[in-house]
Amino acid sequence: GDRNDGGMMHGNGGMGRGGTVELVASNEPNQRLPIPERLRPDRVTDEALYYTVRTERGEHRFFNQGVSTETLGYNGNLLGPMIELPAGKTVYINTINQLDEPTSFHWHGLVIPGAEDGGPHQSIAPGEQRQVRLDIDQEPGTLWFHPHPMGATAEQVYLGLAGLLYVTNQAETGLPNEYGVDDIPLIVQDRLFTADGQLDYDRQMNVDGTVGDTLIANGAINTTFDVTTNTLRVRLVNGSNARNLDFSLSNGEAFTQIATDGGLLDQPVSLETLTLTPSERAEILIDFSDLSLEDDLALQADGIPFTTFTVRDHIEQDGDWTDAFTEAPVANEASAADRRLTLFGMGNMVTIDGKQFDPDRIDINVRQGSTEVWEIYNREDMMGGMTHPFHVHGVQFRILERDGKPPPDNERGWKDTVAVAPGEKVNIEMTFQETGTFMYHCHILEHEENGMMGQLKVD
Ligand code: C2O
Ligand code: CU
Repeated sequence: GDRNDGGMMHGNGGMGRGGTVELVASNEPNQRLPIPERLRPDRVTDEALYYTVRTERGEHRFFNQGVSTETLGYNGNLLGPMIELPAGKTVYINTINQLDEPTSFHWHGLVIPGAEDGGPHQSIAPGEQRQVRLDIDQEPGTLWFHPHPMGATAEQVYLGLAGLLYVTNQAETGLPNEYGVDDIPLIVQDRLFTADGQLDYDRQMNVDGTVGDTLIANGAINTTFDVTTNTLRVRLVNGSNARNLDFSLSNGEAFTQIATDGGLLDQPVSLETLTLTPSERAEILIDFSDLSLEDDLALQADGIPFTTFTVRDHIEQDGDWTDAFTEAPVANEASAADRRLTLFGMGNMVTIDGKQFDPDRIDINVRQGSTEVWEIYNREDMMGGMTHPFHVHGVQFRILERDGKPPPDNERGWKDTVAVAPGEKVNIEMTFQETGTFMYHCHILEHEENGMMGQLKVD
């Protein structure tokens, strides 16, 4: 299947069968792009960092005029801080649930034991806390964290719970890396506001995913950012519950993708459009050297601009970022599937291998250290079906093939989520380094809630 038709895919693009919600440009006045605060550790030793993250109920002003919106956030009213996780260190995070309902803290994309992973089995009751231990041992990359409690994941994310995890290391890559200056995160989400400016969540009305007509970037509508350097590194996170986003620049020029979900690509890839399905990430470089001072350039999703960059300076950066890509590309070689999984259905009837999630059932057993190839098949129904973003906890994988053909260049890197279009078969290869019970599921959060999830046990 062609997965570059994003929002219009097979007429549903993340929308339920009840109708479509198109993105529209907002009339809100421009405002500065909020940059999530970088979380300060409570304590740092030679080997370890200690952080505290708490869920909170809050209020946020999305609109210039009018009401505040009731929201959820980590250490604040909406979204959360950026947490740095240095490779080679142990990171302890004290997670505190200050909501009046259970939640969990899932570290999406981290290669860590199942017991620390924060899936539905590690729910934290209201007012309770739990310390997790994360031994960071993977490639630097842009990951994220979000809740994962049974039955409330989609709503809690929709109301604002999502934060950034940056796996870092000391290597000098020459890539822009000054946080908030030439290296910025953009958590992009679609939201639907009620007439009185609230986020009204109703899962039963949106069984194929909650979608909205308004784009927010780092929690704000119509954002602007002052660019002072020739090259800007943007870390894109599709934090939507269900909508696929096709990113492009307003002048139609190409940008350069340098990283996938779990780390740098072996080689940069020049693109004019980049599709991310829910929970996929990409790092891109945008070149401003040919623009004049005070020129504007917008980043858009499905043709709708949401963040406008204004050129304020042309500071030359120190490094040469092409130095980061000296390795020969890893051949994502084809190899026979060890397992086949079938995604099927819509709405409340979504299944994996004909089954819906059962917390008391282990669906797949594997040995620690083993490497497997899984064929993920999205079986169409009479109506066609939907693209399912398939995610596996506790691993980073490689995409070997899409329908028997090598994946596009910009998917030849570490991934933890892969879009599987209706009718498509995608082969992925991964090594199970950590023990414990892990989820694999569709990252349309309402599909996950409706049971499009299974359990993998590594021992
Ligand atoms: Cu982003 Cu099961 O998670
Ligand atoms: Cu799905």
